[in-house]
Amino acid sequence: MKSEDIAAKPVVGQHVVAPRQNQHQPDKAAGLDIAIVVPTYNESQNVRKVISVLSAVLTPLRFEIIFVDDNSPDRTADIVRDLASEYPQVRCLQRVGRRGLSSAAIEGMLATTAPVVALIDGDLQHDETALPKMLDILYSEGVDMVVGSRYAEGGGFGDWSQNRRRLSELATRLSKRMTGVELTDPMSGFFLIRSNCLRERVGDLTGVGYKILLDILSAPGGKIALREVPYEFREREAGESKLDNKVILEFIELLLARTIGRWIPTKFIMFAMVGALGIVVHMVVLTLLFRSGFVSFAAGQAIATVVAMTTNFFVNNVFTYFDRQLRGWQLLPGWATFCAASAVGAVANLGIAVYLFETMDTVWFLSALGGVIVGSAWNYAVTALYTWKTG
Ligand code: GDD
Ligand code: MN
Repeated sequence: MKSEDIAAKPVVGQHVVAPRQNQHQPDKAAGLDIAIVVPTYNESQNVRKVISVLSAVLTPLRFEIIFVDDNSPDRTADIVRDLASEYPQVRCLQRVGRRGLSSAAIEGMLATTAPVVALIDGDLQHDETALPKMLDILYSEGVDMVVGSRYAEGGGFGDWSQNRRRLSELATRLSKRMTGVELTDPMSGFFLIRSNCLRERVGDLTGVGYKILLDILSAPGGKIALREVPYEFREREAGESKLDNKVILEFIELLLARTIGRWIPTKFIMFAMVGALGIVVHMVVLTLLFRSGFVSFAAGQAIATVVAMTTNFFVNNVFTYFDRQLRGWQLLPGWATFCAASAVGAVANLGIAVYLFETMDTVWFLSALGGVIVGSAWNYAVTALYTWKTG
């Protein structure tokens, strides 16, 4: 068929199809077919190869490759910009003063006008050759998402260590149970999504941590139709993984956010978990001092409060506020503001506990608990603002 024939003939709907090589979007005459979003942090040794393999595999399509780099110290962003002179499809979104794989992925996906976006790691561990097939499946099956899976029949892990596999399997099971997301690989960082499907949900994403897919799928809003495509996870050749303890804490935070976090702020849940530990510390100290007859109830309660407060400060600093953890010399003003802020909480705690115990004749255990609860709520609110500067 000649191109004039097509132009002259109205096709289904009001649109006219212009002649073009691919048939993925029969109702759009121009514009991009797909954007590939590549979050990077210290991937300077990998970006050239990433661009060349992606370009090779995507060539028949109209595409752009968006790198989202968090101002990597190894100057990944500069290298990407240099490469853009050879590859005009390359974009570079450089974020300053920010870190995070999920938020980088989200911002990259929002930066394109393409109707479909793919997310792929910038270290060549994901199998880019699966992309054309994934795009075909998206359109031929009419789904919103196509997810690369290491667990699906035919997928695999390359040479992952036993430990890393076990951790991944545990996280997979846990996330399935807690969020109800039915996927063989909910931890996958390799997928394709229709841009409008993402944009509809973007206001509900937490943007926390590594698990962008889980974040999208567990967000409120209708079910997302998807298919899984197996792929083999490759070995990393250059650079190093950024998966560390922080990633595990971020994962816990995401699971909390998607479960009880719907009703109570996630940080408060974590703070309360630490608080529960603080109650144990408090009770142990109080039991040792008061029950053994060393000191009066009031003195015991006061000492237990100080000990629990200090323990809570350090545990909150590495657990609840792992993402804005105070270090080195910052610990001193941190601890000081934590104590100063909770001094008022401690006074309220002590006042209420003593009142309950002495005036109301409440049993010592419940008196202490009453004081601790009021003190903790106050501590959370004030330290979130002043110690870890949330607001
Ligand atoms: N912009 C930005 N900011 N990019 C980041 C950050 C960050 O804070 N942290 C990591 N990245 C980039 C890396 O440069 C890499 O391109 C990609 O995100 C994945 O990071 P890795 O550190 O290599 O992660 P991984 O190999 O352990 O795990 C990946 O693969 C798993 C299997 O699909 C991730 O994609 C996991 O989410 C995924 O489960
Ligand atoms: Mn990797």
